[in-house]
Amino acid sequence: MKKLLNLDKNDRWDLEGIEFAIKERVGKPEHFIGRIREIEFLYKWADNIRNEVSRSIAFLGRRKIGKSLILERLYNIIYSEKKGLIPFYYEFLEGRRSGKEFYEDFISRFYLQVIGYYTKDIRLNRLAVDRRTTVNFTLLLRQLKTLDIPHKAEIMRDLDACTQMVERDESPYEYVIAATATPRGFATTPGVEEKIVQMIDEFQYLNMYIDAGLEDKPCKAYMATAEMKVAPLIITGSLMGVVSEELMRWLPHRFDEFIVPGMDAQEAINMTMNYGKIYGHSITSEIASYIIHITNNVPGRIIDILSPKFGKPLITNVVDADNALKYEAETGTIKHDWDEYLILAMKAVNDINMRRMTWFLCRHEGEWFYPMDLKRKMSLDIDDQKLREELGILYKYDIVEKNQGRYGGVFDRTLKKVLMTNYRDILELPDEDFDEYFRNDSLLDYLKERIKQLEMSLEEADILRNKLKKLQGDHNNLKGHYYERVILLGLIKSIINKNAGLTEGISATDFSYKLSSFLESGNEIDIVLEGGDVVIMAECKNYAPEYIQKITKKMVEEFVEKSRRLAKERFQHKKLRLAYFSKNGFEDKLKPVFENYGIFFGSNHLETCFGF
Ligand SMILES: Nc1ncnc2c1ncn2[C@@H]1O[C@H](COP(=O)(O)OP(=O)(O)OP(=O)(O)O)[C@@H](O)[C@H]1O
Ligand SMILES: [Mg+2]
Repeated sequence: MKKLLNLDKNDRWDLEGIEFAIKERVGKPEHFIGRIREIEFLYKWADNIRNEVSRSIAFLGRRKIGKSLILERLYNIIYSEKKGLIPFYYEFLEGRRSGKEFYEDFISRFYLQVIGYYTKDIRLNRLAVDRRTTVNFTLLLRQLKTLDIPHKAEIMRDLDACTQMVERDESPYEYVIAATATPRGFATTPGVEEKIVQMIDEFQYLNMYIDAGLEDKPCKAYMATAEMKVAPLIITGSLMGVVSEELMRWLPHRFDEFIVPGMDAQEAINMTMNYGKIYGHSITSEIASYIIHITNNVPGRIIDILSPKFGKPLITNVVDADNALKYEAETGTIKHDWDEYLILAMKAVNDINMRRMTWFLCRHEGEWFYPMDLKRKMSLDIDDQKLREELGILYKYDIVEKNQGRYGGVFDRTLKKVLMTNYRDILELPDEDFDEYFRNDSLLDYLKERIKQLEMSLEEADILRNKLKKLQGDHNNLKGHYYERVILLGLIKSIINKNAGLTEGISATDFSYKLSSFLESGNEIDIVLEGGDVVIMAECKNYAPEYIQKITKKMVEEFVEKSRRLAKERFQHKKLRLAYFSKNGFEDKLKPVFENYGIFFGSNHLETCFGF
């Protein structure tokens, strides 16, 4: 399987083998960048459904973090594999609907995807997830009649029963229960081997918009279904606090939470550069890293900044990026999305307090405050109980974060910008210097982060440099030793060939050698080769061509001196022959010195130098 989960260059996907049964909202599939870790996790989760060991998951993340896109790609991978898992995607929409309307819509879209799976006709899957079209039982039954697919009889029987249920007038909640039970009902039909991967997008809208009559929490219908291992769910929620609270209260222990993280920094940079190119901006990796900083690696926000709109500048530097954010925060999508969160909370919280507290926490991003600390620091005129309630609501609607009883600013810097841009009067911010402030503020943050990274890399570089130095030293020593052995080999060959010159008169059956002989004084002689009547002492230099001037007359004389000392110490009755080798040659001015002391000298090319 792994085959379908591969990244290509720059965190793009290798798309070979993936059939795009549903159209992904990213547009062209090759625009989808990264997210491989998240999809790998979900893929394993889906794979385990075949063994009936996967629990339902709540996939939570604020707007635009990329939840739907991840589900869509997972869908297409599962579909392409055809390994006994039927993917089923259903998106709850905004807008009120009766339980009965939901019933027909949900079940029809479910069976369309089942039939799409069996017939391999992706037009059915596309129809099933396209919210612009309406679907109904009659249409589905008509279509099914002409097809030949597994379990056709069971599906038709179920659809007939559904049609009858629509004709009756049950309580709205009954319809919700029956709809949500359908996927697991199908998966447990005798003879059906396939399991269902249910992907339910925007789960919060079930309680908000589906009219279930007396039951005002229709999500409870999932109490039993969410536990079924043959058709577990992955539900998404962008109102994280709301969904999390509702699950805790109405569907306890049914879901494991998966908080969707922002994109990995490198992936986000690659994505920014990619869209930058597509939209005609001139974005360097520096500018991209600034953009991912102000958007906190949230892919949808990156796209908001980059997508061209009338009156919005093309981006060629960080000031342009700030201007694009300003545009979006004043009138564009970023304002619209955050206002949705703010308006929801505003219904329940005093408007001015809410914005002031949110703003205060945003400004002190990274710090955490107990309610009483906030009251004191902000000089809030509010009853303690009320303060706690309001903070609780802000948390529930994802406008602030909570950590062990303390509150902090939400992760997203674009919220800060929306607050500063649209509510400066309430926040009592000085009007002039305002844009300047945000720019400095985010640039400062950004630069601080960069400096931290640079400091870390400096430290690392130091460690690496030291390691390199040591390795380089070791390497040079080894190179030196290697060169000594090359020379020794040359000498031995010369002995065997009975060459004249340095090795003349040494018998191939009567010689011994030693590398790195130490004198008592601690000096070292690279090669000592001892024949019957002769001893050769040689120095070997492996200096790079640009350093050969470092071989000086003084060095040569020192060599002569230490060799004579060693000869006197140990080889008194032998004739001493000296030799000096340098892999890359010598300066010409040394030749008279060698001649003066009767030293044989040569370079790498022993043959040419010595007549070996
Ligand atoms: N990995 C990615 N590569 C390229 N584009 C991405 C990526 N992730 C998200 N996007 C883009 O970001 C935008 C938001 O993504 P998506 O709709 O999946 O987010 P969401 O979390 O489902 O948001 P909402 O809560 O509003 O439904 C989309 O336009 C999508 O194309
Ligand atoms: Mg979505």
